Amino acid sequence: TGAAHAAGIEVNQLGFLPSAQKLAVVPAGAGDRFQVTDAASGKTVFAGRLGPAATWDASGETIRLADFSRLRKAGTYRIRVADQPESPPFAIAGDAYRALDAGALHAYTLQRAGVALDARVAGPYARAAGHPDDKVLVHESAASAKRPAGTVIASPKGWYDAGDYNKYIVNSGISTYTLLAAYEHFPAWFDKLALHLPESGNGVPDILNEALWNLDWMATMQDPDDGGVYHKLTNKQFDGMVMPDQANAPRYVVQKTTAAALDFAAVMATASRVLAPFDAQAPGRSQRYLAAAEAAWRWAQRHPATTYRQPPDVATGKYDDEHLDDEFSWAASELYIATGKDEYRTRALAAAPAVQTAPGWNEVRPLGWISLAQQRARLPHPSDADGARRQILAAADTLLARRQASPVRLALVTSDFVWGSNAVALNQAMMLVQAYRITNKAEYLEAAQSALDYTLGRNPLGMSYVTGFGARSPMHPHHRPSVADGIAAPVPGWLVGGPNPGQQDRKDCHVSYAASAPALSYLDDACSYASNEVAINWNAPLVYVAAALQSLTR
Ligand code: G3I
Repeated sequence: TGAAHAAGIEVNQLGFLPSAQKLAVVPAGAGDRFQVTDAASGKTVFAGRLGPAATWDASGETIRLADFSRLRKAGTYRIRVADQPESPPFAIAGDAYRALDAGALHAYTLQRAGVALDARVAGPYARAAGHPDDKVLVHESAASAKRPAGTVIASPKGWYDAGDYNKYIVNSGISTYTLLAAYEHFPAWFDKLALHLPESGNGVPDILNEALWNLDWMATMQDPDDGGVYHKLTNKQFDGMVMPDQANAPRYVVQKTTAAALDFAAVMATASRVLAPFDAQAPGRSQRYLAAAEAAWRWAQRHPATTYRQPPDVATGKYDDEHLDDEFSWAASELYIATGKDEYRTRALAAAPAVQTAPGWNEVRPLGWISLAQQRARLPHPSDADGARRQILAAADTLLARRQASPVRLALVTSDFVWGSNAVALNQAMMLVQAYRITNKAEYLEAAQSALDYTLGRNPLGMSYVTGFGARSPMHPHHRPSVADGIAAPVPGWLVGGPNPGQQDRKDCHVSYAASAPALSYLDDACSYASNEVAINWNAPLVYVAAALQSLTR
């Protein structure tokens, strides 16, 4: 596992829609020209000149670009240059990302807590139920008069966060929102994208059925007595690398925090809007969501700075964040859209102190902009969306300028290589898509395409970073079911975190990273939770961006 790899010719290993911009990255020094060949016959179908040589500082590689955008004929191809092995095969097809999008969504189904997955739903990844979470203890840090420490509550369902089996409200927030936004922006695409869910056929689109599995859990994380929201539901220590049904440590809800209350409020307000057309399936659901959102907001007003403090006896993920302005902004935006109330308006419309290029679990302000821009026509004053639009365009133009200056035509720069860098790339793409939806300017969509290309193989390791998709993809993600299920192939459809020069897992890994350059600092080994874990917040922009490019490329 984990060996260094000379990528050779780097290309999106799934391929492209016919009219997309199509770029590949070629090691410099291998001649001036490239050919695209038909993968079956070997015949050249397109030839072109490589761009000038340049070095990418994130990897140290000196490369040249191949642009074959003008090849639009459907087929399966490879790229060829002198003195290099041919590229992996890739497709040009009208549905290039259909299986990917369905697979990335299916990963959430396979990640459901508290339920057995049968073969009809999960195929070879069928498994027994784990973590019923029907008897969860209130941790001392979360104790209140009506729910003293040790009180037993039920908090079932939801998705496991990542490679671990815990459930965290902050990270559930951005993940669930992004799936709801994907449906809200591209309903026609998702109406046709049938998954094999236990709920399939109930009149609700499957992406929303999947989101509902987590919304049902989130709703139980609110204390009905005061509107506060527990930060997480967790074991005290991480489980071993075992299947869910083998992990039986006691579970706790831990500390109510401002961030949890606000992220919860934002998602519930969004859900009340997006699920309203499907209320017939569950009468009153939208109203309940909105009432829960407002109660959480009121709790946050009373506790505006309660940040997460990990109790000494708890060692699982923290999702701690000292800066809560963005959480207030996002929650206010969604609540303003839902209610039109003035009390939310000021906070919703307050400008960010700086350009915010992309959302992340601890930077949620852009999510509010996305909703305000989308809901423009339904706002009490449509001009209330102007600030959000401006901030989206400022973000996207910053990203475009970075891409213009990048030898590999990526908005991703060295400082973006943090824990979860692959999702940074796709969250940037999500912002670029918003700018495209506002302006229809092709450059924004091309930049989003490049970000997806990067995660699917146009990168210096030549990896498609999505399990089970592409010619070379991760085989050993830090993901308990993938390690413990006895199946060689990992659970498919997961985007791994990706290159991270922080290498915070070095002390826990028996093998070392082969390289330290930001874009090379990746280890395909299950020990590598800092570069090779999967997570619900990283898959969500993959679902979104694949759907966006399918829907918008023409
Ligand atoms: O906030 C500081 C910033 O001020 C500083 O400039 C920067 C320099 O590197 O670091 C920032 O902190 C980082 C923090 O994320 C916020 O971005 C930490 O270095 C970094 O280690 C931390 O990584 C997080 C990681 O948990 C460890 O806490 C990841 O974002 C987060 O995605 C990851 O989430 C884990 C869950 O806790 C548990 N479940 C698995 C999941 C995925 O690995």
